[in-house]
Amino acid sequence: MLTIALPKGRIAEETLDIFSKIFNTNFAFDNRKLILEAHGFRFLNVRNQDVPTYVAHGAADLGVVGLDVITEQELDIIDLLDMQLGRCKVAIGIKNEDALDWNKPDIKIATKMVNITKNYFAQKAVGVQVIKLYGSIELAPLVGLADAIVDIVDTGATMRENGLKVAEEIMSSSAHLIANNNSFYAKKNEILSIYDKIKKVVDGNLS
Ligand code: PRP
Repeated sequence: MLTIALPKGRIAEETLDIFSKIFNTNFAFDNRKLILEAHGFRFLNVRNQDVPTYVAHGAADLGVVGLDVITEQELDIIDLLDMQLGRCKVAIGIKNEDALDWNKPDIKIATKMVNITKNYFAQKAVGVQVIKLYGSIELAPLVGLADAIVDIVDTGATMRENGLKVAEEIMSSSAHLIANNNSFYAKKNEILSIYDKIKKVVDGNLS
């Protein structure tokens, strides 16, 4: 049996839709249940940021999670497949009337994504002071907590409605299928079998 960690919300629903297509039966979590067992699979309903943890520790063999989260956490997992779901960008956001001043010593950036932010500024050899927040990131520049933010942009509505604009895009993201290193060897046939089926649906959705 394969255990698959899914992030609560739309990505979990869209992944279960793919399984529904593959096995021609309905896959869905019951109200408030955190485990779903069906067709020889066990699905775990976890927080987005916790998916790589379940997979890296082997509590799940597979997981589905955004490339932004994978990149941020730098955990030891195998990245198997871009599932082309939940496309978004990681971007620097700033107040509409401001511009990023790369010459300012220690630009203050508020973000959930501390590692992505530090690496991006390090690449440009620019000093940065990172302020870690857990949500409502767009608020930080409005009240002077930070000069700018690094955050996820999907539709762009949150930035727009808070008087912010994208100053620079850092990376594109979408949901990826990931695997635990040991599982990938111990359960290779099972994993490759479901990988092939998922890939067919993903490729079919694209064409
Ligand atoms: C993300 C992100 C932005 C928003 C962007 O938060 O932090 O606030 O979505 O989406 P938009 O461009 O379509 O407005 P999310 O709702 O995922 O909640 P989180 O802060 O709990 O991660």
